[in-house]
Amino acid sequence: MQHQKLKETFINKFRTNPSLFRSPGRVNLIGEHTDYNNGFVLPAAIDKEIIIAIEKSGSTKCSVHSYDLNESIEFDIHEVSPSSVSWANYFLGVIDQINKKGKSIEGFNCVFGGNVPLGAGLSSSAALECVFVFAFNELWHLGLDKEEMVKIAQMAEHEFAGVKCGIMDQFASMFGQKDHVFRLDCRSLEYEYFPLKLVDYEVILCNTKVAHSLASSEYNTRRQECETGVSILQKHFDHIDSLRDATSQQLKSVKKEMDPVVYKRCLYVINEIARVIDSCEKLQNNDLVGFGKDMYETHDGLSHNYEVSCDELDYLVEKAKDTGYVIGSRMMGGGFGGCTINLVNRSRQDQFINFMSESYLKDKGIELETYIVNIENGTSKL
Ligand code: GLA
Repeated sequence: MQHQKLKETFINKFRTNPSLFRSPGRVNLIGEHTDYNNGFVLPAAIDKEIIIAIEKSGSTKCSVHSYDLNESIEFDIHEVSPSSVSWANYFLGVIDQINKKGKSIEGFNCVFGGNVPLGAGLSSSAALECVFVFAFNELWHLGLDKEEMVKIAQMAEHEFAGVKCGIMDQFASMFGQKDHVFRLDCRSLEYEYFPLKLVDYEVILCNTKVAHSLASSEYNTRRQECETGVSILQKHFDHIDSLRDATSQQLKSVKKEMDPVVYKRCLYVINEIARVIDSCEKLQNNDLVGFGKDMYETHDGLSHNYEVSCDELDYLVEKAKDTGYVIGSRMMGGGFGGCTINLVNRSRQDQFINFMSESYLKDKGIELETYIVNIENGTSKL
């Protein structure tokens, strides 16, 4: 068990007993790039997680060791600023946000590790932020509720990692519930869990193993393009705070005033927000084939209108479609690499994995990694 190894490493390094905490990665069944447009998403926490062994150091000194990378950093709790060690920014950003809330923590020692693949679009960064904010909250009795912790984790990502992400990943990591997906309204932050009953189907992820460097800069650009679209819509219609409030008719009526790229971005988002509402109903009515069709449509929009896909992702979705037995497939997360999410008939599971792996190796020269998704609980103490 990984947490045993982390605990032993901690004891060898720091000679005291740590507390252990965990926070999972996530999948998102549908609703991509809708969170920062105040729309809906349908995520779940998965059985891949980041675990930390942590204890107060009794001084202002902090020492954090990455078990998987075998790297450490040391710093003083009163001197927190963005670091050139990229993985450190996730907890440094969290400490900074806690300070900004007028709360504070003291020095600590920590060893962390996990099995959320990095750069695979499964939100290893959100898992890291959430596990730290959760642990700090427990160790120093900060009195933060889960929603406040999620917002701290999200702002840490904005300010220390430089990605103006929405709230989905951190929310999913913190609020996940075993065997349930949840529909989150990213405007009100109301959410509803429902059991994921896939009957004859299985959710399988295919990892392209590519992480194009465009990911964070293009992500921030998409966000700006959506804001530009909103500001044009606002000139003509009342009560539009975000693309959630606009209809495709309203968008069409201002098309002439919009840069064609901005128009395409807004069209995708408005359609996707409507699609999530629709597809959640399909899922609840056990119309899995209809739900899967929506997934293919989402991919089409992400690839052609939102333009956040890439050659490898498009290839995997096309191949999945060609099989005839994958009822839904699309890229998942921010894009430019990472995973596709696939709804695959359970009886064809091995056939699917073999076919996709062989094809990807032959045509792209890359060994595919696949994961069968199991849905787990959100952040917790071990
Ligand atoms: C990344 C972000 C999320 C969300 C997705 C796209 O994972 O962190 O907030 O915007 O991309 O749906």
